[in-house]
Amino acid sequence: MMGRATAVSCANIAFIKYWGNRDSRLRLPANGSISMNMAGIETTTTVAFDENLERDELAINGETQRGEAFVRVSRHLDHIRALAGLGARANVASQNSFAMGTGLASSASAFAALTVAGCAAAGLSLSEAALSAIARLGSGSACRSVPGGFAEWCAGKDHDTSYAESIAPPDHWGLVDLIAIVSREHKQVGSTAGHAAADTSPLQKSRVVDAPKRIETCRKALLTRDFDAFAAIVEHDALMMHAVMMTSQPPLLYWSPDTLNVMRHVIDWRERQGLPVCYTIDAGPNVHVITTQERQETLTARLEALVGGENVLAARPGGPTRLIDAEIRH
Ligand code: PMV
Repeated sequence: MMGRATAVSCANIAFIKYWGNRDSRLRLPANGSISMNMAGIETTTTVAFDENLERDELAINGETQRGEAFVRVSRHLDHIRALAGLGARANVASQNSFAMGTGLASSASAFAALTVAGCAAAGLSLSEAALSAIARLGSGSACRSVPGGFAEWCAGKDHDTSYAESIAPPDHWGLVDLIAIVSREHKQVGSTAGHAAADTSPLQKSRVVDAPKRIETCRKALLTRDFDAFAAIVEHDALMMHAVMMTSQPPLLYWSPDTLNVMRHVIDWRERQGLPVCYTIDAGPNVHVITTQERQETLTARLEALVGGENVLAARPGGPTRLIDAEIRH
């Protein structure tokens, strides 16, 4: 069998965070989460199964990979091969629209694109939910990049019930994520190790117990486009996650002084100047500043003055992972 397919997937930013696993092998999360796909911050991946290959091959942005990234991708292909009853190895070529080392998480868009392209190339025709669940095995947050717009990942009970679905399309709410890049260093502790440490924090239990309420509040704020309620829950949830990170053993302190400086300005712009703006932060020092598209220009200028013109990226709500090309020959 020779099958080849290409898929494009957006990264996503979580408004209610996923941190810690109930089952780390299956990446079943400790709690549910909500996110927005980021248009233009994309990974394009081509998977070509070829019976003549002796082993899988991987290139990211044109560079052959042999280390950890290769092992993770090859293992992910094993899941797809097992489902399709396929033995052939594959050549995988992946391209990110954003520079690696911007501190932007590429694993979500990477594993969503790999899953959708890989399954199509293997001749599998699966539901969006099934594709989302498979993407989750590669990187938890990748399951949220499979559906479009605003997505909710229900924690679920097992592999089949732990997947994300869209709760609103991209045009539901004209939000924009302005990413203030305060450091381009590669993070020292990745999220896989971070998830594993979550339970060492005494705060993780209360964060997880309270998650369904935060999900409910965030979903409602999103669906009713209530920015004030949205800002309050998004910042609160990010701080809850960072409180867990900071109190884990060993502690994970992702913020830099510049992170805090952006956070303080955002709070000031909202609380004293009445602008619709809030922040959220992932497992790194960069700050995702969420505002409405009407205020994009004003806030971009303010952020550029703080962190430098070349260090602000903008992403509006993005669509689902899409297959752009597929060819199967038996
Ligand atoms: O999917 P992972 O293992 O890269 O974990 C993502 C973790 C956060 O980005 C910090 C939170 C989230 O929900 O995206």
